[in-house]
Amino acid sequence: MDPVLTLDRVGMQYSYAKKDIVSISQVSFSVYPNEFVSLIGPSGCGKSTILKMILGLVNPTSGNIMFFPGHSNGFGGISVVFQNPALFPWLTVQENVELVIASVEKDRSERTDRALKYIRMVGLDGFEEAYPRELSGGMKQRVSIARALSVAPDLLLLDEPFSSLDVFAAQALREELLDLWENPELPPRTIIMVTHNVDEAVQMSDRIVVLSARPSTVKTIIKVPLPRPRNTRNEEFYLTVDGVLTEMSR
Ligand SMILES: Nc1ncnc2c1ncn2[C@@H]1O[C@H](COP(=O)(O)OP(=O)(O)OP(=O)(O)O)[C@@H](O)[C@H]1O
Ligand SMILES: [Mg+2]
Repeated sequence: MDPVLTLDRVGMQYSYAKKDIVSISQVSFSVYPNEFVSLIGPSGCGKSTILKMILGLVNPTSGNIMFFPGHSNGFGGISVVFQNPALFPWLTVQENVELVIASVEKDRSERTDRALKYIRMVGLDGFEEAYPRELSGGMKQRVSIARALSVAPDLLLLDEPFSSLDVFAAQALREELLDLWENPELPPRTIIMVTHNVDEAVQMSDRIVVLSARPSTVKTIIKVPLPRPRNTRNEEFYLTVDGVLTEMSR
């Protein structure tokens, strides 16, 4: 099967204080249709940069990123939830979501229905009319998740999406996202998620790409062997988490 995308020896070098610094040395991996892939690695190793390169916001200084539009499901849009979500401060929650939907849906009432559906899905009903300054950090994060999902992307990129939520809210939203992803009728089909949280990576991913410290390379790619829905409290789960931690510290 063709992958959705392939990173082929992607590198990133930049100049700082007249010195060339290699932040990403060589990173190669592929992501296949309907896969949930996590990127995990130490702070500063270039995980956010890799997502920005996939989005085309930053160009790699070496190597290639290839998209395969012809895979079995067809390939539509990419959505992203950034590490520090940026909402338009002068727009309400609902308007922030509707604005993004406007790029794919011309009908006004259809747009409103869709925005309300995703706002409800992330647990923000009642806050449709609130402005970003009236929301907590975690609530803003939920708005940005609603916004990313609302355009029905084929590929969803998530940069530590749950790190600013409390443990209960994070767990609830992880399960919501997995439900969405597991429902073949609904997008997103393919997800790439950056995380520092090994438990989260093991709970959610089909495969985990373990990156080394700067200049980063792929240390190993781990296939998570656990059946879904995953029990996060049994021995198999703990053993898998332990295995990932061992690989990360190698
Ligand atoms: N615009 C930029 N110009 C120059 N260097 C940059 C730029 N953006 C990021 N970097 C450098 O690239 C490296 C990787 O940064 P990046 O934000 O991708 O790391 P990360 O793995 O996402 O870290 P974290 O886990 O802390 O979010 C860092 O060393 C950073 O200093
Ligand atoms: Mg980052």
